[in-house]
Amino acid sequence: MDYLSFGTTAEIKVPKNPLEQVIGQEHVLEIAHIVARQKRHLLLVGPPGTGKSFIAGAIASLIPPPTQQIAVVSNEDNPDRPILEIKTRELIEKEKREMRRAKLVDPRDVPYYVSERLGFRCRKCGTISDPESNICLYCGAEKYRKTKNIEDMFSDMPRITRDDKVFMKRRNGKSGEEEYIYERRGNKVKVYKSKLMDIYEQQRKVIVPIDRKTFVQATGASEAELLGDVRHDPYGGHPEIGIPPHERVIPGAIHEAHEGVLFIDELSTLGELQRYLLTAMQEKKFPILGRNTTSTGAVVRVDNVPCDFVLVGAININDVGSILPPLRSRIIGSGYEVLLNTVMEDCDENRMKLVQFTAQEISKDKRIPHATADACEQIIREAQLRARQIDGKDGLTLRLRDLSGIIKMAGDIAIVESSETIDKNHVRKAIQRARSIEEQLLDSYGSAWKAGMSDYATLRRKKRDGFTSEII
Ligand SMILES: Nc1ncnc2c1ncn2[C@@H]1O[C@H](COP(=O)(O)OP(=O)(O)O)[C@@H](O)[C@H]1O
Ligand SMILES: [Mg+2]
Repeated sequence: MDYLSFGTTAEIKVPKNPLEQVIGQEHVLEIAHIVARQKRHLLLVGPPGTGKSFIAGAIASLIPPPTQQIAVVSNEDNPDRPILEIKTRELIEKEKREMRRAKLVDPRDVPYYVSERLGFRCRKCGTISDPESNICLYCGAEKYRKTKNIEDMFSDMPRITRDDKVFMKRRNGKSGEEEYIYERRGNKVKVYKSKLMDIYEQQRKVIVPIDRKTFVQATGASEAELLGDVRHDPYGGHPEIGIPPHERVIPGAIHEAHEGVLFIDELSTLGELQRYLLTAMQEKKFPILGRNTTSTGAVVRVDNVPCDFVLVGAININDVGSILPPLRSRIIGSGYEVLLNTVMEDCDENRMKLVQFTAQEISKDKRIPHATADACEQIIREAQLRARQIDGKDGLTLRLRDLSGIIKMAGDIAIVESSETIDKNHVRKAIQRARSIEEQLLDSYGSAWKAGMSDYATLRRKKRDGFTSEII
């Protein structure tokens, strides 16, 4: 057979592009390309292990790198309303270049006040010396105190401390005054205009960085995880001892997925949160606020935080009904809904794809040896059997997570037997082991199902007899 004319799967080419690694879901791939390119939404419907998560990740890999950084900046006039700041990649790079271009000058060439504050110049005799030494090498006077002592707080003496940077307004020709920053860098002073002061992190918190992944996975575990939050501060953001409000702002998955893919597995488990998700998708922005009403975070709020994402939702067939109708129509209205295949046609081309799949799983695993052609043939047989047994169809199964489990188990057996390849017998043993687990599951599920039915029957009886009002 042509598709089995190779020594081991080491010879099989594994595509680099993750979408090309997806097997037997060609109809989804076509849509996946459109979704990535046109920024549509997508609902993947299908049983576990057919590649929903895998496809979502592959879509994200097609989306170009983000162009915006989102930050919150402290707002002196109203600390509980941090200011939203959106910067483009170009602007960030420009600022970085300007920072690099900032002049490095001799401490003698900056104003006296500045060189004193930075720890270069003696306040008494005016001599410049090493900023690391707190004693003037010329007159022996104290240039600054290395530590802030508790006595300093109570003494009338002015505290002489050393600053790392100093802000100062200076006249600047015709344009009037301009603020400069002087920063100590070893034995030199870096000077730049304070418009660049923005770059200083302590005044802002970048909540969605420019270099980020385009794939964000969210669960419906908590509102805060999905929508963001403002952390509690025991000091209530007190100006001196508390953590400033803007520092406590935490983005939600919807914000982190800005310009990328937001993947929600088992979309139906979101429950009521689906409503917020719908709003976020409609508005493409969503406020971040403290979600715990008893927390000091509850008074803090940042409006209009961008969240322009591609939603990829995954659900099992049975759960289609538990998706909020407006959310579903939103997805369909500006996107696609697709059903994943569970079986593909049994032909040489598709058998070859299973060989490619085997090679992929082995190289992804990294800990198991490659498989022989005979071993692949055995895997193909198992794929035929499973298509028939699980889905009642002739073909090759696409419940590939399970098949991947068999490949890995066979690999482990090969390792234990010190074999350099996975051969037919390893696959057979793995299939046997996996089967025995399935049989056990079938047993317990079968009886659990029966138990469930007997409960149901009891309830019905009770209801008929008026003992219970439970809805059944
Ligand atoms: N169609 C497929 N093509 C290639 N590999 C697949 C496919 N479906 C599943 N797999 C393999 O099985 C693993 C689990 O699939 P996953 O995407 O998590 O399934 P689901 O999200 O539908 O439950 C994947 O990481 C991949 O290795
Ligand atoms: Mg999954």
